[in-house]
Order: sequence, then structure tokens, then C-alpha cells
Amino acid sequence: ASQTRLEKKKIVITAGPTYEKIDPVRFIGNYSSGKMGFALAEACAEQGAEVTLIAGPVSLAAVHPNIKRIDVESAEEMYQAAMTAFPQADAGILCAAVADYRPGEQVSEKIKRETKGEMTLRLVPNKDIAASLGMIKRENQVLVGFALETNDETAHAEGKLKRKNLDFIVLNSLRDAGAGFRCDTNKITIIDKEGGTIAYPLKSKQGVAVDIVNKLATLLK
Ligand code: C5P
Repeated sequence: ASQTRLEKKKIVITAGPTYEKIDPVRFIGNYSSGKMGFALAEACAEQGAEVTLIAGPVSLAAVHPNIKRIDVESAEEMYQAAMTAFPQADAGILCAAVADYRPGEQVSEKIKRETKGEMTLRLVPNKDIAASLGMIKRENQVLVGFALETNDETAHAEGKLKRKNLDFIVLNSLRDAGAGFRCDTNKITIIDKEGGTIAYPLKSKQGVAVDIVNKLATLLK
């Protein structure tokens, strides 16, 4: 296959988890490793794209010279970086596991355990980056999202596809062995906005990234 399927295309990718600060030493996070998003960044760059990789806290390296990496920590920082980069891009791939909520108070000193009793953390909702980009998406831009589900997978994925104004969504189910967080493999189904559905076999995340890039390339023609 040619290595120029995304030549001159600018692609923004979000990857990894977000950390939502509770106090200077604690946070709310999740198990996302960033592996899928980093594999996508490499696969896009290998096809000639100029990639902006907005990465949450992960211990991974981006190696391709056509990847410009922006490190962020919180969902709010990821939102700001994505909203700034997307208007200049041809496509966005939202692969990050963004925290839905963050602590409502910014505490600048370490919280002390005053009593052995209960404590309550008040949480407020974060912005939905995918939905926000979906709102500003232009006719010629392509937006791709992910859905990691545990039940009623297809219905949930189709709902997100519509709600966030995506062009296609990559569904993975935690019911499938070898799919989802932290592992080196994934098993995906791509559902596009025309209702077209393709279910792929279990593959390495690199192999999955190539399938996603191939689908993206057909839409960026
Ligand atoms: O609604 P849900 O979080 O399951 O949607 C998953 C998709 O939306 C993923 O593509 C994820 O990266 C994106 N998302 C986002 N910002 C959020 C929440 C989810 O970009 N705050």
C-alpha cells in the first residue's frame, strides 16, 4: 500500500486519560494507557499526515517526526488545546478517556484527615470535547470518536455518533477479551453516520490503527 494516503492532511488526536486534581498530591484518573491514541498518531504520520497529538498523562513516547505532541493533564486543558488546534485541521480523532467530572473546589493545600469519619467530594461536569468539536466542525472536516461500552454497545455508540456530530465512531466492548484499556490488542466495530458497520477481528492496536486510518482516508479524499 502507498504511504501517502493522508499526505498534507492535518490531524488532531486526543489520547490517554485526564487527571482531575483533588489537592496538590491527589487526583481522579482512569486506566487509559494512551496506547490506542499513540498508535493512531504513528499510523497517521506514516501515511504522510501532520499530526497534533494532545496527550494526557501517559508514559509513552511519540517517535515519528511529523507528530507534534502537546502534553496536558486535565480535561479542561485538553479541551483548550483541542479547540485551538481543530479549526486548522482536516480531521480530529478523539481517543482520550476524558474524565466526565472534576472536583468542584480547587484546594491548594493537602487535605488532612481530621477525623476518621466520612468525607464527601463534590464533583462538577467537564466539557465534552468531542461534542464541542462536533459543534464547530465544518463541512470538509472529519470527526472520529470512540465508544468503550460494557452493555447495549451498538445503541450507545450510535447515540454518541449522532449526539456528538461524528462522521464515524470506533466501538470497543469491555465484554471482549483483549479489548479496551491497557492491553496491546483491541477488537473494534466501526459505525459510520450512514449506518455502515464493519466488525473487525482482534488485532494489535497498531493493526487497529491502520484499519481506522484506512476508513479516515476514504472520507478525506
Ligand atoms: O460519552 P463518552 O465519554 O462515552 O464518549 C466517548 C467519546 O467522546 C470518545 O471519543 C471520547 O474521547 C470523547 N469525549 C470527549 N470529551 C469528553 C468525554 C468524551 O472528547 N469530556
